[in-house]
Amino acid sequence: MSLRLENVAVSLPDGPDTIEVLRGVSLAVAPGEVVAVTGSSGSGKSTLMAVAGLLRRPDTGRVEIDGEDAGGLSQSRRTALRREAIGLVFQSPNLFPSLTAIEQLELVAHIERRLDDEARSRARHLLETVGMGDRLHHRPGQLSGGERQRVGVARALMGSPSVLLADEPTASLDEDRGRAVMDLIVAQGREQHVATVIVSHNLDQVAGVDRRYELRHGILVEV
Ligand SMILES: Nc1ncnc2c1ncn2[C@@H]1O[C@H](COP(=O)(O)OP(=O)(O)OP(=O)(O)O)[C@@H](O)[C@H]1O
Ligand SMILES: [Mg+2]
Repeated sequence: MSLRLENVAVSLPDGPDTIEVLRGVSLAVAPGEVVAVTGSSGSGKSTLMAVAGLLRRPDTGRVEIDGEDAGGLSQSRRTALRREAIGLVFQSPNLFPSLTAIEQLELVAHIERRLDDEARSRARHLLETVGMGDRLHHRPGQLSGGERQRVGVARALMGSPSVLLADEPTASLDEDRGRAVMDLIVAQGREQHVATVIVSHNLDQVAGVDRRYELRHGILVEV
């Protein structure tokens, strides 16, 4: 249940030039550890999350999930590893408008063809854990932004991921709700023994993490 990046580099085209978005980034997150990453807009935070989440291959460097080198895998095995091992939380949770809160989570199990009683009770339990026990059968349109984001966190945990990556998960929330969702992610990461990385432009909002980093010109610095 761990994440390890070693010497990861990514360059992207910028008109006739290329920008080095990530330069020799290394990061290790153990099971149940929670780290936070900040950096100015355009500093490469989302690119780092995309590499860690196996959504983008780095130009050079190594990405290990649970000790497995993701770089050596076929595309289909990579996709399978991403589904099995990685939970993603984005700025807005992209819930299905026609599904209730509990159905959003059950869908994860359904896609994996293991929607059974155990999965149904896990979905219920996770929603209760994120304080949504009395909103199980509400649709996204009947929930507040903070409540939807909590459903998004529960959904990311539904597949028992080894790695939880949250990219600006509170950007659409006010300060109090934002802090509550951050606290929830930190607590869940620890409780479920998930290697957790939270990206936020405002580290003041993120309390109780093990380490804090800043991306500066593509280089990850511990702060
Ligand atoms: N597909 C792409 N093609 C070219 N350049 C890109 C692409 N995606 C991102 N970039 C550039 O890479 C750099 C890093 O982008 P990234 O999205 O990782 O930054 P960020 O730190 O997440 O910013 P923000 O805080 O605004 O979300 C930026 O200069 C951006 O313009
Ligand atoms: Mg970003």
